[in-house]
Parts: sequence; structure tokens; C-alpha cells
Amino acid sequence: MLKEKKVLLGVTGGIAAYKSCELVRRLKDKGAVVKVAMTDAATRFVTPLTFQALSGNPVRTSLFSMEEEQAIGHIALADWADAIVIAPATANFIAKAASGVADDFLSTFLLASRCPVLLCPSMNSNMYDNFFYKANEETLARSARFRILEPASGELACGYTGKGRLPPVQDIVAEVEGLFRDLDFSGLNILVTAGPTREPLDDVRFLSNRSTGRMGFALARAARSRGANVTLIHGPTFLEEPTGIRNIAVKTAEEMAAQTMAEFEKCNMLIMNAAVADYKPSEKTVGKKQKAGSWNLVLERTVDILSGLKDKSKGRVVIGFAAEYKDVEERAKNKLFRKGLDAIVGNDISAEDRGFESKVNAGIMLDRFGARSELPLMSKSSMAHRILDSVRSLLEKVKQ
Ligand SMILES: Cc1cc2nc3c(=O)[nH]c(=O)nc-3n(C[C@H](O)[C@H](O)[C@H](O)COP(=O)(O)O)c2cc1C
Repeated sequence: MLKEKKVLLGVTGGIAAYKSCELVRRLKDKGAVVKVAMTDAATRFVTPLTFQALSGNPVRTSLFSMEEEQAIGHIALADWADAIVIAPATANFIAKAASGVADDFLSTFLLASRCPVLLCPSMNSNMYDNFFYKANEETLARSARFRILEPASGELACGYTGKGRLPPVQDIVAEVEGLFRDLDFSGLNILVTAGPTREPLDDVRFLSNRSTGRMGFALARAARSRGANVTLIHGPTFLEEPTGIRNIAVKTAEEMAAQTMAEFEKCNMLIMNAAVADYKPSEKTVGKKQKAGSWNLVLERTVDILSGLKDKSKGRVVIGFAAEYKDVEERAKNKLFRKGLDAIVGNDISAEDRGFESKVNAGIMLDRFGARSELPLMSKSSMAHRILDSVRSLLEKVKQ
């Protein structure tokens, strides 16, 4: 995938800068032509000479270079690159990229570029959890051009243990390859449902679940970045709605069902990722129920969206999700056939470090033609692409 691809590696001033030396080697092993640009801070960690020797190309460090800027070199390099990888990306660089600051070579070059960008943040875990950092990351994640590789957890150079390590070089290389995927969903209408639903007990309280919407949002973004027209129907979530996507916000299972039914016939593929409540209170109190003794709730089944779509699904691909505590594969397989789905992703929610309320996920994917693939622990964005890779061929199969 990387053969003769022109990759600009931007190195910023993080302690993990030394790992990017290896990254140059591995990208070149895959056939990429690599040029490196470094921030001033990065040159304090690794010398430009090292990157020049490894890449076989001159390294840009300064915007105001008499030779390099003779023909406005930063714009020429921005036009040259097929992809940009910033590894490691400091908190400072992420902030500059999110707000369009162009005060050195790398940030100016990034602003002038139009190709896909992979950002590999790496920093102290408190910096990573910082409110401003999170806000900047979310701003960048809203653009289909930027992909952010989740840092790994473990011991950090600063002595802390937590999230902030630069992911292994092979993971970064795999993500760079992902930037070159074709627009293989171009012109297709993809309907994605995401997040939880809320079933009101009164006008203040509700029943809901732990879904954040991250997996569904990642699927919507991934489909959009591969050329699809995406409609995203989502329950209440704190996430910012993706740009370039038609967003429909709903609250209850009933609203989710009504919107999904209304949109279904326009789509080529439905990815039913929402964690729709299975039960709702049979009665809703108007206003706020006052405190008085115990409150016995009677719950009734909500509408089963997937079963309701069974008859209309001819020629469309329908993908479901199964979050299970045990016997994940068996239960997912059961649901696949019971609900008349084309494929299903089963994930194990007994593990605390993935799935609900996490930025990473793992699972198993099955389709009705007998294909089975493992989805090892990875970022939800990577998993979204892996799922799309697997289901693309189903579009042809259901037409036959
Ligand atoms: C020893 C040392 C290690 C550092 N490691 C990191 C790091 O891993 N991640 C980070 O975001 N900043 C780190 N910093 C801080 C950045 O170097 C600093 O914010 C700098 O302004 C970044 O500039 P740049 O984004 O232009 O490269 C480190 C600083 C020092 C002195």
C-alpha cells in the first residue's frame, strides 16, 4: 500500500522522538519515499543528521531557509506529500494544529497541505487528560482529513504510569497504510446508529446505558472518509457531532426506531451500532415524581428495530452489534441469524478496558456467508475501518 507513496514525517519535541528513527526505516521498508521535518524542540532530542541519514533526504527544520525557500519550499513540500505523519505529536503541536497556528516550518507546512494526516500524540498522562488538550483533539477529530492514533498505556519516561506512550512503530505503519485506502464507499448511502437511548421515568429521570456513541461515531467518520454519504442517528451523547455527515439526534428507543425506519429505504447499508434500550418504563410520570416510600417500576419491551426492518432489507446490507458478557461468539452468531443480519460484530463487555466508555475496542466479526474475523484490541477508529474493510464485499453479495 505504501509503495512509492510520498510521506512527510513531522517530528515534534517529545521524548518519544527517538522512536521515529525506527519509523522512518519501517516506512521505507514498505516502499514509501520519506522526507522529514522537525520542530526546533524536536532537534533537541534527536539530531536532524540522524533523520537525514535514515531517510536519505534533507531534513527541514526552519521556515526561513534561504536555499529551501528559494521556490517557496514549504508550499512545494505540502503539494509533494501524499500523506503526513506527525510522530510524536506534542500537546503543543496538537494545540497549534487545532487552531491553525503557523509559526514554524512544520505548522505552516501542515496548514498549507491538503493530504490525509495521521497524528500520533505522545505525552505525560496528565497532559493527555488535560481539558485543553482534549478540546484540541476533538476539534481535529471533526475533520475527515485528520486521523488520531490513540496513545498506548504503560510506563512513561516522566515516571508516571498511564496513557501517553507512542504506540508501537508497526501500529503507526499500519495506520499510515490506512490513509491510502481507496474511496471504496464513494457514492454509497450509509446509515449508522450510535449511542444510548433514554427511556424516561418522569421529566427528570430516565433509564439508559453505558454507551457513549464513540464506536458509532467512529464508524460514521470512517465511512465518510472513504467517500460515503453518511447519515448518523444518535442518542444522547457528550460527543461533538461529526462534520460532513447528516446528524439526527434522538432520545428514546421509539424515536430511534422511527428515524431508522424513515431513513432505511434510502440507504445501501445500515450499521446498527446504537445501544437501544430493550426495556422502558410502562408508565411515565408527568413532571417530577415526589419522594414517598419505594418506587416499584414495571418495564415493558421497547420496539425491536432490526426485526422490524427484516422485510425491507432486500438488496441492503444490515450489520448489527452484540455486546455480551459471556459466550460472545455463540450469542453473536445466534443474533446474526435470528435477526436476519448480513454481519455482526460481537464484543465482550466483561473486560473493563474496552467497549463501553472506552476509546478502544475488540471483538469478533461474523457474516452470514460464514466468514469470521478476530478484531484485536485497537482504537475505535481503527476498528471502524477494519469493520468497513470486511463488509464492503457484502454490498455485492446481497445484490446477487
Ligand atoms: C525532557 C522533555 C521531554 C518532553 N516530552 C514531551 C512529550 O513527550 N510530549 C509533549 O507533548 N511535550 C513534551 N515536552 C515539552 C515540549 O518539548 C514543549 O512543549 C515544546 O514546546 C514542544 O514544541 P514543539 O511542539 O514545537 O515540538 C518535553 C520537554 C522536555 C524538556
